[in-house]
Amino acid sequence: MLHRPTPRSLVSRLAELVERVSGNVVPEGFYPFLSEVLQERRLARGLSDPETYLQALATGRLEEEWRYLLAAITVKESFFFRTPQHFAALREVVIPQLVKARASSRRLKLWSAGCARGEEPATLAIVLAEHPLLAGWSWHILATDVDEEALAAARRGLYSERAIALVPESLRQRYFARKGEVWAFSPRLAQHITYRYLNLVAEPFPALGGPFDVIMLRNVLIYFRLPSQQRVLGQLAQQLAMDGFLFLGPAETVWQVSDQFFAVDLGDCFAYQRRATVPTPPPPRRSVAPAPRPHPSPPPKWSPKVAPPTPAPPPNPDPAPDPLRQAVGLLSEGNLTKAQELLHQVLAANPADPQAHALEGYLHEVAGRGREAIAAFRASLYLDPQLFQARLLLAHALRRAGEARRAMSEYRQVLGTLATGQGKELDRLSALPLPTQEQASRQAKAALQGLEQG
Ligand SMILES: C[S@@+](CC[C@H](N)C(=O)[O-])C[C@H]1O[C@@H](n2cnc3c(N)ncnc32)[C@H](O)[C@@H]1O
Repeated sequence: MLHRPTPRSLVSRLAELVERVSGNVVPEGFYPFLSEVLQERRLARGLSDPETYLQALATGRLEEEWRYLLAAITVKESFFFRTPQHFAALREVVIPQLVKARASSRRLKLWSAGCARGEEPATLAIVLAEHPLLAGWSWHILATDVDEEALAAARRGLYSERAIALVPESLRQRYFARKGEVWAFSPRLAQHITYRYLNLVAEPFPALGGPFDVIMLRNVLIYFRLPSQQRVLGQLAQQLAMDGFLFLGPAETVWQVSDQFFAVDLGDCFAYQRRATVPTPPPPRRSVAPAPRPHPSPPPKWSPKVAPPTPAPPPNPDPAPDPLRQAVGLLSEGNLTKAQELLHQVLAANPADPQAHALEGYLHEVAGRGREAIAAFRASLYLDPQLFQARLLLAHALRRAGEARRAMSEYRQVLGTLATGQGKELDRLSALPLPTQEQASRQAKAALQGLEQG
């Protein structure tokens, strides 16, 4: 049904409520869809206008509504063996280490926090079931999410071909059965998984049965602002065993978010472990994990309608200076500290600015923090995959970090993006010595040649 446009102020109030309740920032590009959701839900509740619905929601009189709202608004993108290097590191480094440490109990506990439709915990179950060192061990996986519909789907355990595309054929045969168009996950392995509702930003947590040996909190904090990220990481620190491992998504890091963890290099990737003592004073606060990218395809339930075209804003004769350009200017003048301070403000105001994340990566590089630079470039590309200069910088950073295979893949993607003619420049960073399209193409080809030869 096409509804009358909802006043923007009401849509942004709903966005604020969603963030307050779940931590998820709803990007403005998603507002037309949010407006539809608002109208659909107030009709479903038999309420005469969106204002009344919002009022009831804000005062806690529609608690059960969150079930629908969060299912509509959270991003559930996931698939088996997502970020395969995490599962390889689990198999080769983490499990052998934990097996030694838990030799007396012969028991492991894992937690997939923000498990979507179960792809991540089911992948963990496959990795554990396949591990020769865990034969005869007892292991269990807690899988939690704020979206009850996703949890119900996880319990059903039916997956599309696309969701299991990265599952090797032999594992597919062992742990999946074809059911028409979909694949059913092994009930034997599913017995090791408990699916449970948990809102990561609602404190205090109920008893979860920890401490956990491994926690996966991947691609969840990326949609949160800094204060919510900090609260969640603070809670998770209490749930992680002292020698346990925390995995975040590849575009996320705890740098300047939490000082309770330190990064552990696992070869092809890294994870985090708890610090025995937390250093004081805490570092300056700012979000490193990027918050919301535009949501991908919204869920089918309330299919988004085309928003009426917004009239072009009147030309502004004296536009306010762009603080990101100012930060670049400071950097060009050699004023690294001031550039960094200003960039922190830019990112705090707009954590979904891909060019700001690219500048952050650049600053990390300048300061010699290669790992943080990689995460920041990834964040930038997560938000806008066509930024070929950010990808080239990521490829260079990976190469310097000795990750030749990944660097090669990024160099190829630079060439791929340029070949399609879709490459976008970091135009607000143009005062920096960044390569043009031709230079980027030459650099990527030369680097690939060098890496292939040796
Ligand atoms: C993009 S998916 C990530 C799934 C999986 N971890 C992965 O990396 O493939 C993010 C998940 O986090 C969940 N989520 C969002 N906000 C949450 C919250 N406040 N508490 C618990 N889960 C949340 C969403 O419902 C969604 O299932």
